[in-house]
Amino acid sequence: MDYAEEQRQRWNGAAAEAWVSSQPVIDRLFEPLADRLADLAAARRADQLLDVGCGTGSTTVAIARRLGTTAACVGVDISEPMLAAARARADREGVAAAFICADAQTYLFEPGSFDLIVSRFGVMFFQDSVAAFANLRRAARDGGELQMIVWRSPADNPFMTVAQHAAAPVLPLPERQPDAPGQFAFANDQRVRGILRDSGWSGVELRPIDIACTIPESELVGYFTRFGPVGMALQNADERTRAQVIEAVRPAFDRYVHGDEVRFTAACWMVSARAGATAR
Ligand SMILES: C[S@@+](CC[C@H](N)C(=O)[O-])C[C@H]1O[C@@H](n2cnc3c(N)ncnc32)[C@H](O)[C@@H]1O
Repeated sequence: MDYAEEQRQRWNGAAAEAWVSSQPVIDRLFEPLADRLADLAAARRADQLLDVGCGTGSTTVAIARRLGTTAACVGVDISEPMLAAARARADREGVAAAFICADAQTYLFEPGSFDLIVSRFGVMFFQDSVAAFANLRRAARDGGELQMIVWRSPADNPFMTVAQHAAAPVLPLPERQPDAPGQFAFANDQRVRGILRDSGWSGVELRPIDIACTIPESELVGYFTRFGPVGMALQNADERTRAQVIEAVRPAFDRYVHGDEVRFTAACWMVSARAGATAR
């Protein structure tokens, strides 16, 4: 199976199921990041905005809500189930946001149509990042802007690897490869600068941001058994393995538990770049 098909299946299968069924938890968890992008979009007075890898649409809709009817907000994603949730969310909230089901690496966007392209954790999965960001550069208006939030390294985000390390005796999983497509693909700032430069963006800046995130303690087991490498591996595991993993992993999170809340810091890059007029 080629990479694009493997990703399509992943994000239309187990991963989509996790994101859609846990939507309220994820919304709360990453709300501060959606708010940052909404603040930015409002400050820029964006009028044609694209949210890349928009998933269930929490960021797209937060921005559309903030910008009101003055702006056209579009989300693009390869996951049909996640987009169905995004459309339902936009309808529920009565905001005008449109959603496209497509691979953002190759989709033929109207050239020069967006003045702001944003993403919250939706750009680290491309097969060819330079090709993807060149495609997004073509979709951006000259003078337009890119603003995206991506994860810094696993070392900066110990919460994100607790489950994999604690589960290892029961559920050994391959170590994540630095730079490989996935959650931490954009952790290396030099690599990100290179990708954006090579794809025609200019004025690239990466600013570290550390965001306090919380989930209810009652959702913690659901979280680590559905998301990340452990969550994905458990999709096909038997009940005994699942129980063993929960027993091994849950205590490893104790240091993040404060009463009925789980607290951790999301260590991210706020990446910005400009669509300079000379890039085409
Ligand atoms: C980690 S999730 C983030 C979802 C959303 N931005 C959020 O913060 O809730 C990554 C998203 O990127 C999408 N994605 C992965 N590869 C993609 C591609 N080539 N084109 C468009 N979307 C893609 C996935 O389907 C998924 O919804």
